[in-house]
Amino acid sequence: MSQTITETQVETDKIPATLILKNPVQTTPDEYKYSNLLPHFSQDTYPPLTPFSHSDPGLRALDHPDPRTFLRNATSVVELTPRLGTEVHGVNLATLDSDGRDQLALEVARRGLVVFRDQHEFIDRGPEFYKQWGSHFGRLHIHPTSGHPEGFPEIHLVYRDANSTFNFEISDSITSTVWHTDVSYELQPPGLTTFFLLSQPETGGDTLFTSQVSTLKKLSAPFVAFLRTLSAVHSGVEQANFSRSGKRGGIVRREPVENIHPVVRKHPVTGEEALYVNRQFTRRIVGLKKEESENILKFLYDHIDKSGDNQARLKWQPGTVAVWDNRVTAHSAIVDYGDSKERRHGARITPQAERPIPALEGLKLD
Ligand SMILES: [Fe+2]
Repeated sequence: MSQTITETQVETDKIPATLILKNPVQTTPDEYKYSNLLPHFSQDTYPPLTPFSHSDPGLRALDHPDPRTFLRNATSVVELTPRLGTEVHGVNLATLDSDGRDQLALEVARRGLVVFRDQHEFIDRGPEFYKQWGSHFGRLHIHPTSGHPEGFPEIHLVYRDANSTFNFEISDSITSTVWHTDVSYELQPPGLTTFFLLSQPETGGDTLFTSQVSTLKKLSAPFVAFLRTLSAVHSGVEQANFSRSGKRGGIVRREPVENIHPVVRKHPVTGEEALYVNRQFTRRIVGLKKEESENILKFLYDHIDKSGDNQARLKWQPGTVAVWDNRVTAHSAIVDYGDSKERRHGARITPQAERPIPALEGLKLD
């Protein structure tokens, strides 16, 4: 059962009253086609997430004689880079059946990112459809702090316009680039993830992606062998504190958690190993001295940051739907359009997957 935070409780968390408006986005509803999907900051609170068993839909596609059948009617299938990403034209995601969705899960696991253009039907089907779509791939994650369409907490929104921003943005940094995988602090972080823009600036607001399979492969065998023996703490505390400081809607609906994940995880379908640390949520390596942990993490973050040969940059177009696998990729927003005051409004469907499988069998994770 969820309970409602009273205004008094919120004030004890020192959030200015001006930031706890029910819907602070300043838009006249009928001026905007997707006004029903504007961020809403309900005062609901949620209990801790509970473990669940996840069987990846991509596993079912492994037995298929041709698991790329869902791309049969595509007019174009182009690899964005050799190591990451495929761009598809001519496939209507909205009409993919269960078998096609299983194949999609396998393809995304293999390519890390698959970008589908001209998906207006998918986007216009609305939030009930988004939930039905995402539920095929896992239990839908409800974000503890973000805005969501009213009545649909399972849909995570990013939003920025001339008057407001409801993103996790660090304003005193020299860059908006923050590589991460989504909500990696959860015990069972997301797998296949779907994201699209409902409104976008004329130019800018691209998204960067990188292959964490490739970042791992660049490292030497003895160093990878060492990394496989390590686990790290991922924390949602700072993200919650960001909201508690009054930013991004000012709401924390579920108490933040910390969880320990392997530094090298294994994908349940492809068996590929991927580096699983990120600057946004990973805090320390378990069992190492502070300086050892800090230096190894800094080295790995720097490696992720500067390895352009593992990365792809997605330029959004109206109707683009991106599907990525959060287990084997990392990504970063690019906030280079702020001066234009244009609206950027995106929606994410975030099914949770298995607890990360350590590449080293039997690795202790507590
Ligand atoms: Fe993200």
